[in-house]
Amino acid sequence: MTAITINGQSKPIPDDRDALLVDVIRDQLALTGTKLVCGSGVCGACTVLLDGTPVASCLLPAQAAAGKTVTTVEGIGGAKLHPIQKAFMAHDALQCGFCTPGFIVEAAAFHDRWRPMKGTAAPSREEIAAALSGHLCRCGAYENIFRAVAEACAGRFDGDNDAAPRLEARDKVTGAARYTVDIRHDGQLEGVILRSSAGHAKITGLDLSPARAVPGVAAAISLLADDNIVRYVGAPIAAVAAKDRRTAAAAIAAIRFSSETLPAVIGLDAARRGDAPVVFDKTNRKYAGNVSEGGGSPARWRGNVRGPSAAFSQKAKRAKAWLAAAHDRRDPLLVEETFRVATQSHACLEPHAAVARFDGDRLTLHVSTQAVSEIGEKLAKRYKLAHDKVRVIADHVGGGFGSKGALGMETIAAIELARAANRPVRVAYDREEELSITGYRPAAEMKVGLLPSTQGDLKALSLTAYADTGAATNSTIAALARLIYPAEAKELVDFDVISNLPPGAPFRGPGGPPMAFALEQAVDEAALRLKVDPISLRKRWDPDPNRQRLYDWAFALDVWRNRKGAAAQSGRYRRGVGIAAGYWLYLWQPGSSIELAIKDGRIVARTAVQDIGTGTRSVIAGTVAKAFDLEPQEVEVLIGDSSLPKGPASGGSRVTASIVPPMLAAIAKLKAEIEKSAARPPLAGSNAPWRDLIAASPDIAVSAERAKDNPPPAGISSPLKQAGLMGLIFGWMLRTFNHIVVGAGVPSSVQMMEVEVDTWLGRVRVLNAYTGLSVGKLAAPVLARSQAAGSVIQGIGYALYEARETDPLTGHVLSSNMEDYRIPGIADMPRCEVYFDEAGFEHVPGGSVGIGEVATIPTSPAIANAVRDAIGVRMTEIPIRPDRLVAALKGRTAA
Ligand code: FES
Ligand code: FES
Repeated sequence: MTAITINGQSKPIPDDRDALLVDVIRDQLALTGTKLVCGSGVCGACTVLLDGTPVASCLLPAQAAAGKTVTTVEGIGGAKLHPIQKAFMAHDALQCGFCTPGFIVEAAAFHDRWRPMKGTAAPSREEIAAALSGHLCRCGAYENIFRAVAEACAGRFDGDNDAAPRLEARDKVTGAARYTVDIRHDGQLEGVILRSSAGHAKITGLDLSPARAVPGVAAAISLLADDNIVRYVGAPIAAVAAKDRRTAAAAIAAIRFSSETLPAVIGLDAARRGDAPVVFDKTNRKYAGNVSEGGGSPARWRGNVRGPSAAFSQKAKRAKAWLAAAHDRRDPLLVEETFRVATQSHACLEPHAAVARFDGDRLTLHVSTQAVSEIGEKLAKRYKLAHDKVRVIADHVGGGFGSKGALGMETIAAIELARAANRPVRVAYDREEELSITGYRPAAEMKVGLLPSTQGDLKALSLTAYADTGAATNSTIAALARLIYPAEAKELVDFDVISNLPPGAPFRGPGGPPMAFALEQAVDEAALRLKVDPISLRKRWDPDPNRQRLYDWAFALDVWRNRKGAAAQSGRYRRGVGIAAGYWLYLWQPGSSIELAIKDGRIVARTAVQDIGTGTRSVIAGTVAKAFDLEPQEVEVLIGDSSLPKGPASGGSRVTASIVPPMLAAIAKLKAEIEKSAARPPLAGSNAPWRDLIAASPDIAVSAERAKDNPPPAGISSPLKQAGLMGLIFGWMLRTFNHIVVGAGVPSSVQMMEVEVDTWLGRVRVLNAYTGLSVGKLAAPVLARSQAAGSVIQGIGYALYEARETDPLTGHVLSSNMEDYRIPGIADMPRCEVYFDEAGFEHVPGGSVGIGEVATIPTSPAIANAVRDAIGVRMTEIPIRPDRLVAALKGRTAA
């Protein structure tokens, strides 16, 4: 045994030459602040100081640290907080917090080098980006990280200030926040899944006994569906639980199975061919996944093509006829174009993970989920357990973006292995699994026809979308074009193209970003042909009152008025400015409840919602604190536990609008109860000293459930009403089958991007982003700003870098590590101005609706429109790769 000094204490480390420092720190020394994400030195999450120098502990054998000093995030700042930690807290330089320990360690080392050399001079944005370039944040908290590091280096956090707008910020900057992957019960086993290496096969025999015979293995189970068919590379076959991951992997390798290979088809183009092998026949379509938040509408299947789904069309025949006639007469106003978007992976930094434990017939499940309440209900049903025998816990969740809303195979495997082994079992996906089989935003091909009338009105619109959904269905892209830019006639048609690829999943505003990429460029093109300002055209075509105000804001920006356009520029670097609009539905979940209690003289708020980095704790604490003249830290918030009163899922931007209204109702009830029990009731109209009344109050509890909104003012209605009968049916289906209500008013976003294009190398850099949002009153303003900026950088990734690559013959995901799947880093973050228009949702108690979806929808078309403005060439495919841009400039097609 050798030893290291870790956070000031000498600790033995194993002699195992293969053990990595990150595993020893996390698993043996139980310092779980250090996170494991990429495992390949790309993301920086595992950064620790080795004799004072930052290193990636996922690349370092533990033995290489023998005799040295290691400092993890838990040791940064010693007994006190480091100025960097205080600055991250004060500037909310974090969201889900999973990347935060790595950033803190690196930034603290940078700060400690900087100060002796530069005193209190603030480092530039470029110097900070260079220092932190080895770190990735999927939530995109970069803008506030810049601020935090600059101000800490400038000495502004040398004092005792440890205030934070985010309730759990201290836990996240010190490494104390516990995520599912950090849970460790006594006797816990590691579960690993055997996955298919074939794209399509029938498993004809499965022998788990060799795995069970491996020493250290406690259970082996089958994960095959009833039909025994695997439909994509990575489909689950079996799972093993063993004393550690290495033993489980050896047991997986020992499993024997026989299979009959079935013909496979990979990707959009191949799967659409008439002679393509069929992935799902009539009898087994129930095994298809779902890429939308809702259930989707019934549609015809022809081979692998499901559709047309055209319920949101309006006078489709007329639209078709007008567009065909315009095409035949070569109408110069007619915009016809085909747009393509790539597959975008969620790439959550915390992998999908679950830890299951049975105590008798009682199941406790820690899981990285966006829906503790719903998962609890689903598990009770699936395993025929009484509701009070199932407890689902998610204290902190390291990102989800839509991929963690469903009951996933990691959960099923953990539960079934725990039951078979009679021991707690953890199943945590590795990075290859995370980037291959946990879902994605499907690639799509979208054909657009847009015809303005000679008077400049929008006459006809046609959008036909083919989505590359893999082994899943229910893509909704074209239909979303019904709720913006009313036209005389619209033909909106969606198709799913199913193939032997892993199933897609909902991803932040499902269908919204691809729809906007196509439609917003078509509108921009129409403005060019009509020779009108693109914002003025949107103002004319788009009557939505929320977006009307945002167009006025955008129109007044200096950057818009000062843009030069392509014709006025020459030389290697050219600049352009682009605009785009987006919307999302205002959703809320009926049945969402909150309990407010006074316990031992302190207010406690309880609801079974989860915080996936969106700041739910802070929204609850801030709302309650404001009502009682308290500081948010004085409110205890209990969430992330299905045994609490039923809360909403974090999906479709519905959390704030689901919990603030019942919270306000509960606040009113609690005030009445406190006043009733006060020894001396406050005088009518007095400014009741709530802090004193609460301290003196006996223990009481009240609760409230989400009620209907107030009637909206004239002219504001559910956007589904605009979509006629089909809209109403869709709304009914959402409410009945998915427990989601579409409220009145439309959360909206108008974004403007300024880009610089390197015409030699084909690179596009976003210099400045302006994002205008109409999402009602801000329940937590600092956090809302951070979420908006994070959505923009995720949209920049979609526009410029991100593309899942697959082998077109085998279906293997090739971009299954974070070197090959590129997400934006801190140096990609433009200066980002966020503007909130807080009107428009006064009929919602509290006036707040969600941000997460709408804020990312218009980013990619705004960038594409900016590129068009810079170089005069329209980029119809994302990501806008350098080779594509250079080819487009030369008028040819990229390879
Ligand atoms: S986990 Fe070590 S660098 Fe990503
Ligand atoms: S806060 Fe950085 S990954 Fe979530």
